Amino acid sequence: MATEPPPQASSGSENVIVVRGLTKVFKDFWNRPQSYAVNNVDFDVRRGEVFGLLGPNGSGKTTTIKLLLGLLYPTRGHLELFGRSPRHVATKERIGYLPEESYLYRYLNARETLSFFGNLFRLNRIERRKRSEQLLEMVGLKNVVNRPVGEYSKGMQRRIGLAQALINDPDLIILDEPTAGLDPIGCREIKDLILALARRGKTVVLSSHLLADVEDVCDRVLIYYGGRRQAQGSLKELLAETQRTRIVSPALSDAAKTKVRELLKSEVGEAEVRIDNPTQNLENYFLNVVEQARKANQATSGALAGNQVAAYLRGEAEEDASPDRKLERLTRPQAPSEPPDEPTTTPAPPVDERTLERLTQTETIESAPVPAPEPEDPEESERLLSSLVSKKK
Ligand SMILES: Nc1ncnc2c1ncn2[C@@H]1O[C@H](COP(=O)(O)OP(=O)(O)O)[C@@H](O)[C@H]1O
Ligand SMILES: [Mg+2]
Repeated sequence: MATEPPPQASSGSENVIVVRGLTKVFKDFWNRPQSYAVNNVDFDVRRGEVFGLLGPNGSGKTTTIKLLLGLLYPTRGHLELFGRSPRHVATKERIGYLPEESYLYRYLNARETLSFFGNLFRLNRIERRKRSEQLLEMVGLKNVVNRPVGEYSKGMQRRIGLAQALINDPDLIILDEPTAGLDPIGCREIKDLILALARRGKTVVLSSHLLADVEDVCDRVLIYYGGRRQAQGSLKELLAETQRTRIVSPALSDAAKTKVRELLKSEVGEAEVRIDNPTQNLENYFLNVVEQARKANQATSGALAGNQVAAYLRGEAEEDASPDRKLERLTRPQAPSEPPDEPTTTPAPPVDERTLERLTQTETIESAPVPAPEPEDPEESERLLSSLVSKKK
């Protein structure tokens, strides 16, 4: 299969992630090598690209992500994020992470959840509130903010998980199966958000076994099977069928079709020439049908459609809510010469190891009773605490 030439050993300045010879062997109880979850893998992720880890279940995607986050130690190999070890605090504070399973404090509501994570990054109260409101709007949870997240559907939990991953305005966003459990509308929204974030200069690494998702958003992919790299490259290179040519035009009359067919036959001999109508994909067709129903004002009690990227993630202070402006923001490609966005938020101070461990821990609060950090607002602290403690069985 097509494979990119092996990347250079030194990390280029544009590389956010550099991985060389990465290997993770899980041992059994007797310390004997049990399985090669990741086996001698090399790849680079460049700044501002969407990079996909693609593979069937059990092929090593989540293990790779945990290695990137410093949650697992590699058995062998070299890993670098922003030119540093994944375990460096300065690395961790630039990363947002959506785990494969949502590990949320089930008795907190959406607003409290985001406030809690904002607290871990030591955002001040005003900043926490501002970001939380923008994120809730962005992921379409504005109408359910007061419900405990434990009552959320899987799709809604994915949405709050994504909001939580963005609270620290990360440069690198790592998403493990971001569209798992989402309906087609939710999938499309998450994909649009990923693309919009990439246009704002964020780097995104995502894993998926859903081929359509990867195809729609990723610039480059790495295909895993059995922990080994099977193929890697840009989707355009990997999927191009260089032996065939496609010409697309407005609908042709029968007479014009015959003429074209004759012309092509004279060029390519008796080789197969096919003229038909292109079909749209089922996702687009389905979304159109739902959009029509929505316009007819049919009621739903689920999540609302999400909104554009939160203003603080775009580096904008004020909301301009006009639909045209929203669309323009979502679809505007970032000009290469555009100066970097003015940060309007106070950069978060360094986060200590313990705080990040809590943020990336893979256990629910019931099984991992870590004390919450002290919020500055005593009232809010009280509320958070009582919602955590009093409703517990
Ligand atoms: N903690 C673990 N202990 C032992 N084996 C593991 C552990 N985590 C993952 N594995 C094994 O590593 C392989 C890759 O798993 P994973 O990275 O979760 O796959 P994917 O995310 O692609 O579905 C699987 O065979 C899985 O059983
Ligand atoms: Mg996985």
